[in-house]
Amino acid sequence: MLSDIFFLPGKLPLLKKLFWKSWYNIFAYYYGHINIVFMNYGYANLSEGTQKLELNALDEKERYCLQLYYHVANSIELKGLDVLEVGCGRGGGSYFIKRHFQPKSMTGVDISEKNIALCRQNYSLEKLNFYQGDAESLQFDDCSFDAVINIESSHCYPHVNYFFREVFRVLRSNGYFLFADFRHYRDIASVRKQLENTGLKLIKEEDITKNILVAMNLENERKNKIIQENIPKFLQGIAYYFAGLEGTRMYESFQNGECEYFYYVLQKKV
Ligand SMILES: C[S@@+](CC[C@H](N)C(=O)[O-])C[C@H]1O[C@@H](n2cnc3c(N)ncnc32)[C@H](O)[C@@H]1O
Repeated sequence: MLSDIFFLPGKLPLLKKLFWKSWYNIFAYYYGHINIVFMNYGYANLSEGTQKLELNALDEKERYCLQLYYHVANSIELKGLDVLEVGCGRGGGSYFIKRHFQPKSMTGVDISEKNIALCRQNYSLEKLNFYQGDAESLQFDDCSFDAVINIESSHCYPHVNYFFREVFRVLRSNGYFLFADFRHYRDIASVRKQLENTGLKLIKEEDITKNILVAMNLENERKNKIIQENIPKFLQGIAYYFAGLEGTRMYESFQNGECEYFYYVLQKKV
């Protein structure tokens, strides 16, 4: 039974948005100084012979989190496009995409204004912008982006179908939706059904749970060190859980199949 704090707010939709917004605001306020730029479980390449992604020394520190972005963003040619990331967290992913894939513009949106303040403080590039906003009612005009990226954020939304509707609305014709997150295995079919109902055409789908799990193993020591050095003892248990350290129920839920991590590419074909 996956009844821990991650999933409890899901049973109370009205509180869910408030919970996650407050959670990330508090984390950014008290722990904004911790040098982490990603907040996802990471991705490890499992196929033999895959060329190792070349990274500079700074990016290397968060290789696996960054590889999740790379895996998702690399599905289509982003060069020269207007790209929106929803749930951009601390902005490391939008910053990486702008540098690596060279879209014309990169816009990051997050519900946490404290996260957005960190994004603006840490990343400044031409045509890279960050705004506070809600995935379920985006502030952008219809047909304003060529691609929307969403990584490990949608589990926080009370009505994911509102978000999908917004993705459809802000995408231009032939635009892409690149979407990755996890769910309890019982909820996977419902997410897929809701995606089908958007009118977006499914181009690709992948279960990447194994890649995530291997990344969690490889990241265990680094995350453990960050938590021990920065988080007060009484909060360390919950930090281990959220970080998905080995032995936590979060980690076990991926290991025993209770949770699945999926990745979809969809296209607006109208
Ligand atoms: C687990 S973090 C992932 C952040 C980032 N994608 C990454 O991989 O580093 C989830 C993010 O989703 C954001 N979020 C939660 N609910 C949201 C909503 N309704 N609209 C926009 N962002 C939201 C949170 O504030 C948080 O930054």
